[in-house]
Amino acid sequence: EIPQVVFSGIQPTGIPHLGNYLGALREWKRLQDTAHPDTKLLFCIADLHAITVPRPAEELYEHRMHLMAVLRAMGLDENRSTIFFQSAVPYHTDLQWILSCTASMGYLSRMTQWKSKLQLSDNTTMDDPAVKKSLKHGLFSYPILQAADILIHRATHVPVGDDQRQHLEFSRECVTNFNSTYKTDCLVAPQTIVSTSRRIMSLTKPQQKMSKSDPSPKSRILITDSPDEIRKKIRGATTDSLAGVSYDPQTRPGVANLIEILSGFDPERRSPQVLAQQMEEGYKITDLKEAVTKVVCDELAEVRERYQLYVSQNDQLREYAAVGNQKATESAKKTMELVNEAVGL
Ligand code: ADP
Ligand code: NA
Repeated sequence: EIPQVVFSGIQPTGIPHLGNYLGALREWKRLQDTAHPDTKLLFCIADLHAITVPRPAEELYEHRMHLMAVLRAMGLDENRSTIFFQSAVPYHTDLQWILSCTASMGYLSRMTQWKSKLQLSDNTTMDDPAVKKSLKHGLFSYPILQAADILIHRATHVPVGDDQRQHLEFSRECVTNFNSTYKTDCLVAPQTIVSTSRRIMSLTKPQQKMSKSDPSPKSRILITDSPDEIRKKIRGATTDSLAGVSYDPQTRPGVANLIEILSGFDPERRSPQVLAQQMEEGYKITDLKEAVTKVVCDELAEVRERYQLYVSQNDQLREYAAVGNQKATESAKKTMELVNEAVGL
């Protein structure tokens, strides 16, 4: 079956890292290169999501432009893919309000992202005093905006990293709630395309996922890092003092994460288990770190070079964005008309 509409998004909260690359960006590029010509591809810079944790305006502006430069450097092409800023298409927030009127508070309160952003455990409830003190409404209702992002383009397929499954399930819940309330079928339930790569973990705290919002820059490799920076970060990655290399995410999370990265970049796409089995007698963690450094440096070299070129071309980046913003507005407008009609607006 040919996917009709592919949609995905990324927050402009910093230069993308290896997790974003393996979990999302590389998959976007692959889809662009292999999709049927009739498949519509939309990739969104989710700047409204980025302010769920407010930051200085200049910083957000810079991150937005840098992310646009990264997407260009990845080879996403404005003639084939629609790349746009979420904030430039207000239909996203229009639909968010409408969806929020049929979305369940109970369901939202059970979701884990707001808890992890506030560094609370997954079983924290709304009655917790820490929640009353610091939970903001935007962070809490964030999954509704994410659902609106997907549904406003009637996306049929959403490629995301494994950390996003829960949100996609919620998007389908929003479709059911809306369509049954208004006795319509105008919203389309999306399918998740989960990247084959598992979640990439922090280099310094391998129990946590690698994230742009981690305060420690040593925890992640940016896709624009120089070979020297990549080497240093991988050398400094937390491992353990056991002899040799084996793949066991439970007991050896640091080593397993490095093997995971190696597998993600393996031209033969061998699984981490297979890679670990094929490592020779006497293969050491330092050998593993060297192998990871090499594959990462090799694969990212071209993106890094192209990024250096694009990042200084602000006018061109803005033009590129304007093309995408326009196309995304047209795509969203069609759905908004159907939704408004169903609601009686
Ligand atoms: P971050 O959590 O780093 O801010 P985003 O929320 O912007 O990342 O996510 C962008 C995409 O990258 C999503 O599809 C998400 O699933 C994927 N992603 C983020 N972190 C990781 C990770 N550590 N491993 C794999 N995929 C990830
Ligand atoms: Na995320």
